[in-house]
Amino acid sequence: MSFRYLGNKTRLTDWIVGEIGRVLPSGSTIADPMCGTASVSLALARAGYSVTAADALTFPVIHARVRLLAKQPPAFKALGGYDKALDWMCSAAPVDGYFFKEFGEGGSPANGRAPRLYFSATNAAHIDGVRDGIRELASSGDISEIEHSVLLHHLILATNKVANISGTYGYFLRELSRSALRPITFDPIEFEQTQGHHTVLHGPVEKHASALSVDAVYLDPPYTKRQYAGNYHILETLAREDEPLAAGDGGLRPWKEQASDFCYRRNAGKAFRETLEQLNVPHVFISYSQDGQVHEDELLSILSDFGKVTIHEQPYTRFRSNNRTKEGTVLERLYHIETF
Ligand SMILES: C[S@@+](CC[C@H](N)C(=O)[O-])C[C@H]1O[C@@H](n2cnc3c(N)ncnc32)[C@H](O)[C@@H]1O
Repeated sequence: MSFRYLGNKTRLTDWIVGEIGRVLPSGSTIADPMCGTASVSLALARAGYSVTAADALTFPVIHARVRLLAKQPPAFKALGGYDKALDWMCSAAPVDGYFFKEFGEGGSPANGRAPRLYFSATNAAHIDGVRDGIRELASSGDISEIEHSVLLHHLILATNKVANISGTYGYFLRELSRSALRPITFDPIEFEQTQGHHTVLHGPVEKHASALSVDAVYLDPPYTKRQYAGNYHILETLAREDEPLAAGDGGLRPWKEQASDFCYRRNAGKAFRETLEQLNVPHVFISYSQDGQVHEDELLSILSDFGKVTIHEQPYTRFRSNNRTKEGTVLERLYHIETF
């Protein structure tokens, strides 16, 4: 799944899963409670682990459900099969609805500001048409829960490809880019028949940590101050299927109740400590960048209170969401804690 997501580990999964595999035999159980795109969850599933994935936000949970639980294309009886379901999304009738009004080039945001250029008018209306269609199918009971997730997963992937942004949804570009002018498309995905028994949960790690009954936990917390709930507000709205108040110039949904402590320099160390205190597992693996909110010395000191720490390092190119961000490589670290 190739969309840009802050901290997406797709390019690091071979290394991460390789290091985990030196300690944890295939067939073991492992949790990825901050799963994002579920790239690590899927790589672990491919390596033979049974995976419990979770995230505080809703759209990563949709990705995880589809990538882990849909092991083959769902039947989509109501739509005539999986390929026909994609055709149905492609040919959905446009609707001048919430996305058109709040996020489209031809819109008229409720707060009276000028149109927000997240999408071309045509794509915004297409997204509204698909959203309405999915809501109708779900409320009439014509699709199963996993079919519902598969449709939303496709809508999120397709929306990402035509979004007029530079990396995150914090703001939109001043003019519609070439990719934003292309008509939205719904491309088939591969479903993977992994062996393990997987589970997908929703909610902050603080809620699940103490109940995780697994052989290991892999934590991949945010390491910058950028809150995912705000920076990916449009994906969250697609996944939640609601129409929240779109505030300010950027049209962000209310996100503060989903703010992560890991993004605040003053709270991040405490968030690590509180999460680790709740976990009751023999092995914890943590991905954390060298330039994260918690300084490497402080992090090592926190982790050492919970067990024997080993550090693995890999040079990695920074995610850049705009041209102003510093270029260059940083050291991505994988901490392994063999707990006391
Ligand atoms: C660095 S990203 C994970 C990237 C993921 N490994 C991937 O490859 O796509 C961090 C994720 O943690 C989630 N998150 C932030 N705070 C959280 C919390 N307290 N509990 C659970 N998830 C949280 C964010 O929503 C985000 O998806």
